[in-house]
Amino acid sequence: MTTSSPVPAGTIRRIVQLATRAPSVHNTQPWRWVAHGRVLELYADRRRRLPVADPTGRDLLVSCGAALHQASVASAALGWSPAVTRLPDSPDPDLLARVELTPAPPPVDAAEVLEAIDARCTDRRRFTSWPVPDERLAGLAQVATQAGTRAVPLTDVSERFRADRIVLQATERYRSDDAMTAEQQDWRDRSSVDGVPSTVVPRRTGSAGVPGRFTDGDLDEPDEPVVEGSDGLVVIFDVEDDPTAWLRAGEGLSALWLAATAGGLSVVPLSQVVEVPESRKAFQLEVLGGLAHPIILARIGWQAIGRSELVRTPRRAVDDVLEIA
Ligand SMILES: Cc1cc2nc3c(=O)[nH]c(=O)nc-3n(C[C@H](O)[C@H](O)[C@H](O)COP(=O)(O)O)c2cc1C
Repeated sequence: MTTSSPVPAGTIRRIVQLATRAPSVHNTQPWRWVAHGRVLELYADRRRRLPVADPTGRDLLVSCGAALHQASVASAALGWSPAVTRLPDSPDPDLLARVELTPAPPPVDAAEVLEAIDARCTDRRRFTSWPVPDERLAGLAQVATQAGTRAVPLTDVSERFRADRIVLQATERYRSDDAMTAEQQDWRDRSSVDGVPSTVVPRRTGSAGVPGRFTDGDLDEPDEPVVEGSDGLVVIFDVEDDPTAWLRAGEGLSALWLAATAGGLSVVPLSQVVEVPESRKAFQLEVLGGLAHPIILARIGWQAIGRSELVRTPRRAVDDVLEIA
């Protein structure tokens, strides 16, 4: 392979297929890819934005950032080194990134990266009560930071109390807001290619601790609490609250999530705390000292050994999201 060889169409399709495995809010998959020559471009698909929960497009850009990260690490694992330009100058405001690919030997952990992309999923089931050691959380926050965002684990007891209280408040507000819940319902069991199937959402009857916003699905899950004191929390934040920060936060979330998956940990984003304006403000002031904006919060824990594999959420076909120019 020379430095001028084109990227084979099969490789482009495989990279995009791996990128589509990325997490996205309500499994909206709000992205589009265009390949020409050695360049792969990522566009926001704003028709897939959630107008009620995500009027500014923050969650949409976090989701696209996660896809960008997965495309980048997948490219490297397949022998194509990615040079990423974020939000390049363009008359098209939906162009989020340009990824230029150059042949390069895959990194030594290429197989593990591909395995982690395949294994990563949102596991909303209760975690075991084994606490995730502070060093592990700090290590995962570091992985996110190295991917270009900022992240800290919430390990201090009083900070943790404040965070739990704000998440609970956000979840209650979310649930009592008819427009927010109707929008969420709209993405439940939506189709065979997008949305969140009930088969991955735990069925619960009560609550202790802080509940997640998804409940009452089909997944058999006898235990009640969603966030326990033993669960780890890492917040991804930035001093800016703008599209660059959101895109980088998505890259950081994906990096953290793949590292957690490779290390046997489960991750669930708790984005209602950022979607509900009062809770976002409270989190900013009471947890982040007024200095930074929360972009996404991640709950991290150990899943009990021997539990069955979760059903994988569906994805749109590569041909629906990729145009080879
Ligand atoms: C920006 C963003 C916000 C999310 N918010 C939540 C959330 O608040 N609660 C939740 O259970 N899952 C949340 N998720 C996870 C998505 O629902 C999940 O990624 C999607 O349904 C695809 O499923 P998978 O992650 O298992 O592949 C979020 C994901 C992203 C990227």
